[in-house]
Amino acid sequence: MKSTFSRILLTGVLTILIISCAQKEIPDSDQKQYHIPHLKTQGETTQLIVKGEPFLILGGELGNSSFTSVEYMEPIWPKLKAMNLNTILVPVYWELIESEEGIFDFKLFDQLVTKARNQDLKLVLLWFASWKNSMSSHAPGWVKKEQERFPRIKDDNGNSHEILTPFSENNLQADIKAFVALMKHIKEIDENEQTIIMVQPENEIGMLPVARDYHPLANKKFEEEVPIEFIDYLEKNKENLVPEFYDVWAGNGFKTSGTWEDVFGKDTHTDEIFMAWYYSKFTNKVIKAGKEIYPLPMFVNAALNRPGREPGRGYPSAGPLPHLMDVWKAAGPSIDFLSPDFYNPDFKHWCDLYTRQGNPLFVPEHRFDNTVAAKAAYAFGHYEAMGFSPFSIESTESTEDEPLGKMYNLLQQLSPMITKQHGQNKIEGVMFDKENNENIFQMGDYEFTVRHSYTLGYEAGARNETWDMCGAIFIQTGNNEFYIAGSGIVATFKNINNPNRTVGILKVDEGYFEDGEWKVLRHLNGDQIHQGRHVRTFADHYSIQRVELYHYE
Ligand code: DGJ
Repeated sequence: MKSTFSRILLTGVLTILIISCAQKEIPDSDQKQYHIPHLKTQGETTQLIVKGEPFLILGGELGNSSFTSVEYMEPIWPKLKAMNLNTILVPVYWELIESEEGIFDFKLFDQLVTKARNQDLKLVLLWFASWKNSMSSHAPGWVKKEQERFPRIKDDNGNSHEILTPFSENNLQADIKAFVALMKHIKEIDENEQTIIMVQPENEIGMLPVARDYHPLANKKFEEEVPIEFIDYLEKNKENLVPEFYDVWAGNGFKTSGTWEDVFGKDTHTDEIFMAWYYSKFTNKVIKAGKEIYPLPMFVNAALNRPGREPGRGYPSAGPLPHLMDVWKAAGPSIDFLSPDFYNPDFKHWCDLYTRQGNPLFVPEHRFDNTVAAKAAYAFGHYEAMGFSPFSIESTESTEDEPLGKMYNLLQQLSPMITKQHGQNKIEGVMFDKENNENIFQMGDYEFTVRHSYTLGYEAGARNETWDMCGAIFIQTGNNEFYIAGSGIVATFKNINNPNRTVGILKVDEGYFEDGEWKVLRHLNGDQIHQGRHVRTFADHYSIQRVELYHYE
């Protein structure tokens, strides 16, 4: 009896020892990377992994002041659920968590995180700290009131503005201290649950009202040599620099030493490059310190510039903009990616610029207008985006009718399929209006010609002066099998390998996914596909269709 007992005890002790030794073999940092939300590449696509699975952010950003009380949020939660969001982008306000210097209060934050968790919503946090839309309005009162200690930028007339200068060590350390406290707290309350999946430190950083800071601390740096670290980056990456930036450097003779004006010329673009370097340095230090505690993916966002306008006077200078990508990346290796906020037209143009150099597309803000449903399909389809998120998402009163909610419903069902096919040229997206109403692309052996469904002339809306924007996502799942989801498109097909053969539609079913299983709702081989001539869905109808093609002589 005694010997059996000691054998059990010994086996138990040995098992514990073996388990703990085996665990020790995995370095702590790797374990963290593995089990908390992190980024991973599949082919050329960057995926966000949450609890071990790729996750598409079907998001919305709350208006700036909604996340400031439990009471105010109460009627908002059901709206978010009704629109099929899986994530919300929400501010964390420095002034509210550290209203007294060194004393951190996370009570409100915790209540709101719990509410989100109970709704099964993920959170992307926006750290409204040193900068929010260029300004420092969310810095705590004790920072704002002590200008000597926490200096502000100065314009070229020597006037101060409510923008903390990135050249002050005090400013940096105060921000870092608060951010580190936040990340420690998140680690404590959320490492198991993982409601918080990414962080955007600061918001729309940019210098106003002129292109660069003229504070004495800034002037001193401006007179110094361009840091060797930057020059090294430029030399190493010379052939891959974005053309807009390459041209500036080339225009001044590819200089590799001297002051900022020596290297880049005497112009406002040099002021902007200089500021971008120091904004990125500052933000990178905040991010690095936060990641040392809890390494969630962290990104920065930009208010897009208006082409032809002057930095500073015409738009916030030096933000993480496409023409400054190289500067932001060189100074900010801990920043995971750069993101555009859309309040401008030309969605495709800006997305093309932001997806250079392997930068993944994540749209943290888009004006919440009637184009967002189509753009979500296009972003996830054409750019294999990580996420999409209209701004002021709670502002609608008709959540049940929101096209975005209908599109998110389809995308949510298709998420496992989309993420499985990421990075293999098996996904495409389209987005149409009256002027841009056709797109031709290849998928496997087929050439797809896809048009706005109004081009058929069947729908009343076709006679309108402007056409509703429509969009869809296409996913290839077999040689001849595709899923098409969205609204307002019509598609026809050609065989690329054998153009003499005609492509026919073997069968089209409309349906949905339930627990990962495809369920057919309607079989469509009659009028709904014009008797085999095309695949279509009208502008007011959001559907998933499974399409099987074949070809004949
Ligand atoms: C962009 C900012 O990032 C948001 O916080 C918000 O202020 C919107 N602009 C308002 O349009």
